[in-house]
Amino acid sequence: MADLIPVAVRGEIAEGHTKKFIVIRSGQEVEAFAVNFHGEFYAYVNECRHVPMTMDWVENQFLTEDRCFIQCATHGALFQPDTGVCIEGPPAGKALHPIQLEWQGDQLVALLPDAERDEDS
Ligand code: FES
Repeated sequence: MADLIPVAVRGEIAEGHTKKFIVIRSGQEVEAFAVNFHGEFYAYVNECRHVPMTMDWVENQFLTEDRCFIQCATHGALFQPDTGVCIEGPPAGKALHPIQLEWQGDQLVALLPDAERDEDS
């Protein structure tokens, strides 16, 4: 079983763009974001693997100018959008925490495992 969190409707996140949403991790609300990378969707917790802080200084700005990489605004680490793996910067070799996505009709949802759910829910 998994909780389903609505992320976006079909067509809402253009290619090379992102959208933030909220998930519950260890009973706390944390930011996450979905990215449309070449028509495929991926999602990660908005927390750098170098220092555990959000990566978008400017709201919802996660991608490099050429939209090829996710970039942490603090020290510039570059992550592959499709794997979350850091290929340059202080956390090189580490990966962002992934969140599973799936389409349910025209609705993109995040699947949150039971273990990640808020214990009060
Ligand atoms: S906090 Fe992200 S690269 Fe340092």
